[in-house]
Amino acid sequence: MESDDSANVKQAALGEPAGPCAMVIFGAGGDLTKRKLIPAIYNLAKGKLLPENFAIVGVSVEPFTTEEFRHHASDDIREYSTSGVDQQSWDWFLNRIYYLSGDFNDPELYKKLGSTLSQVEKEQGTRGNCLFYMATSPSFFPIVVKHLGDEGLTKVEEGWRRVVIEKPFGQDITSAVALNRALREVLEEKQIYRIDHYLGKETVQNILAFRFANGIFEPVWNRRYVDHVQVTVAEQLGVELRGGYYDHAGALRDMVPNHILQLISLTAMEPPISFEAEEVHDEQTKVLRAIQPLTPEKVLDHAVRGQYGEGIIDGKRVPAYRSESNVSHDSKTPTYVAMGFQIDNWRWAGVPFYLRTGKRLAARVTQIVIRFRRPPFVLFRNTSVNNIAPNELVINIQPNEGISLSFEAKVPGPVVRLGAVNMNFEYCDYFGTTPSTGYETLLYDCMMGDATLFQRADMVEAGWAVVQPVLDVWNALPPRDFPNYPAGSWGPAAADDLLRRDGREWRDPLNGFGLQPRFGVKALPDRVPAGSKS
Ligand code: BG6
Repeated sequence: MESDDSANVKQAALGEPAGPCAMVIFGAGGDLTKRKLIPAIYNLAKGKLLPENFAIVGVSVEPFTTEEFRHHASDDIREYSTSGVDQQSWDWFLNRIYYLSGDFNDPELYKKLGSTLSQVEKEQGTRGNCLFYMATSPSFFPIVVKHLGDEGLTKVEEGWRRVVIEKPFGQDITSAVALNRALREVLEEKQIYRIDHYLGKETVQNILAFRFANGIFEPVWNRRYVDHVQVTVAEQLGVELRGGYYDHAGALRDMVPNHILQLISLTAMEPPISFEAEEVHDEQTKVLRAIQPLTPEKVLDHAVRGQYGEGIIDGKRVPAYRSESNVSHDSKTPTYVAMGFQIDNWRWAGVPFYLRTGKRLAARVTQIVIRFRRPPFVLFRNTSVNNIAPNELVINIQPNEGISLSFEAKVPGPVVRLGAVNMNFEYCDYFGTTPSTGYETLLYDCMMGDATLFQRADMVEAGWAVVQPVLDVWNALPPRDFPNYPAGSWGPAAADDLLRRDGREWRDPLNGFGLQPRFGVKALPDRVPAGSKS
């Protein structure tokens, strides 16, 4: 039986601890558990957001004892904690960690898990509430869920049972639909929490606050005022140790149907009638469904792929993608993607949305740029100061979280000269920084039964439907020019052409559209006619 979710959501708003529960982590010996989950849960413990009656049960194939697993968790926390370790909260945390070793394919494991959960309930008072976190390789998601169902662990008379599914959710539309179906054979939709860690980022959540808690932006948030929208998710890192996964996935699958389309759906969706999960998801799904699928011909023109060659990052030479470990030496996998598409609805008809993402780019930066149309009447045309820079609103997701708005101002002096200036808001100036892994909010919300920041089945499928035509064309036509951008650059030249053909350009994420850095004033001597007067 589900507990009263709306009461829990209200409790969350007050920052109160979640109710009693156990969290079972499948894949407890893996990288995600060590780098993100254990540190995030520990941060919640330190922030007093975990209930007194709490337990973690790690499940993995490694033959650890509980004592050994606690020992590993101690090491992980010391290595990856974002907030430092204090002995008191650490002792509290450690005493609530359990471990179970076994093969995910073996029904015996789930019998043992059932007994462990009963033991945990007695020792820690978790009251039958349980969150199963799938931090395994994706091929195990349906297998583990099926076994949990067969063993009767996904339903309880009292309390709740929820399952968190990590990404990647499928490798294409067909496998995503099949995974949804497999999950729904065992679970109700409201028990399934499909996680996308981008939704745990403060600035991503702030898109909703920015749009819907302020009266002044919504009236201009549409095709009458917006020229186009750009989303850049640039990484400096390469594939690190994940070549085995990445060489099959590639940049398009890895970043677009999930993280980037989440950013776009929050930016472009209609106002929901409330912030209840269902209402927000309805609007996100609607806008994802309104994205015009690219025809095969359009894929050739509107989608660009790239792969990094060797190059220089932060003054250091780094290898080409094809030389990374666990990557095939003639790999055709894209490490860069750029796309342009239209959203076919009343608000956005005719407004292009462009996205680009890649590894080993010049800087780590994620930002959404809303570029507004130029003023309808150019008052300054007789003074030849008619090349006015359009206003742009930049939502910086990372690393310098904040929002900036650029506009034209008169440069002081006797002649009419315009300069682009910025109004800047940076999170850290107002709210300081919170040492977070990005998973804290999501784990906490899941314990509270608030699914707003998770993806519903239809959202995931709508995301795959957008990228599927591109996957199909790219599979049929392998690239011939890889590697086609050096590490440390902004990606392949074809991505610039994509916008240039539309008379547009990518915003330089560090400096704007050819503008000086923030607070700078763009001097326009070439546009100031000799002898013009203010
Ligand atoms: C993950 C991708 O989902 O997101 C990685 O699999 C990528 O390839 C990562 O590096 C980016 O996340 P963040 O939070 O560092 O922007």
